[in-house]
Amino acid sequence: MTKFEENSVNKGFLLALFTASKFCVFDLLHNKPGLDAEQIAQEIKASVKGTETLLEACVSLGLLRTKDTTGHPKPVFENTELATHFLRSDACFSLHAYIQHCNDTLWPLFSHLDSAVQEGTSQREKVKKCKEMSEDSFCNSREAKLRFMHAMHSSAKVAATDVATAFDLSSYKTACDVGGCTGAIAYELIKVYPDLSVTVLDLPAVVEISELFQRQHADKRVTFKAGDFLKDELPKADVYILVRILHDLTDEKLHILLRKISDACTPGCCLLLSEIFLEENRSGPSRGLLQALSMSEGKQRSAVEYSRILKDHGFITVQVKHTNNFLDSMMCVKA
Ligand SMILES: *[C@@H]1O[C@H](CO)[C@@H](O)[C@H](O)[C@H]1NC(C)=O
Ligand SMILES: *[C@@H]1O[C@H](CO)[C@@H](O)[C@H](O)[C@H]1NC(C)=O
Repeated sequence: MTKFEENSVNKGFLLALFTASKFCVFDLLHNKPGLDAEQIAQEIKASVKGTETLLEACVSLGLLRTKDTTGHPKPVFENTELATHFLRSDACFSLHAYIQHCNDTLWPLFSHLDSAVQEGTSQREKVKKCKEMSEDSFCNSREAKLRFMHAMHSSAKVAATDVATAFDLSSYKTACDVGGCTGAIAYELIKVYPDLSVTVLDLPAVVEISELFQRQHADKRVTFKAGDFLKDELPKADVYILVRILHDLTDEKLHILLRKISDACTPGCCLLLSEIFLEENRSGPSRGLLQALSMSEGKQRSAVEYSRILKDHGFITVQVKHTNNFLDSMMCVKA
């Protein structure tokens, strides 16, 4: 297969994942494992032929498997571990909301890639992140905000362990997660570092809704502060955390934010940056280049490029960690 054919195939299978997720096939098979295609079709109110095709695609993706049932005339299906852990809507590390977000919000961006390229601008009036929720726009409705925050929360939870354990932060006592949204990263950090307390800074509208996500773990060591990280004073901390913030900012905003963090830091303070780092040589299709195509206001950078920018703000890069997972990380210390 050529690379192009291969990518078309991947795209098709991704749509199968979106669809199975939308129809809650993985929830169904968690509650009732061992249904056959006809029974599943009935439950999700879809055609038998279409359902069979969808199930086969899910099997080939390793999301479902057929169970060997002697005596049963038709194959019956059950979730694989992957589906059990990540695709059920109520799983601890569920990506259900994120997958929905990919289909509803990110995917359409790629369908407008032609105009994005012509204009060189974001096509995402409709794609708003926590940190840029403004009064005008689609994000106006609480329902839309909540849906978006669910998506961010579910992907942050899955990435949180990588971020929290990328480096040893045990010598620090206080952290500030800048644009920390629902606190998914903050709660993971206090799990890994029992002596750490974390302030999550985000816009008032985000902080208000984020309470809905804290019921399960509420803990005194995590506090939320409403504010705009570009305008308001930053909470004092030994470690400033920036997870998927910088790639989304214009150069101007990026420098404003880094200057504020640098001013708030005393020598020895740490900055933990988590992003998808571009390969230095830009070889091969990568997650970073894919993210670049979605044309945010900001841009994707390699670890070396981030290092250089941070150096201009007085930070020395101590370590870089590539994960090949959701996010890579870099640890810098104020000189
Ligand atoms: C994906 O999003 C489109 C809108 O862009 C919507 O029409 C479609 O139903 C969605 N599909 C799934 C599987 O969620
Ligand atoms: C680019 O860099 C990656 C690792 O960073 C390496 O695996 C790959 O071989 C490099 N490709 C080229 C063409 O140099």
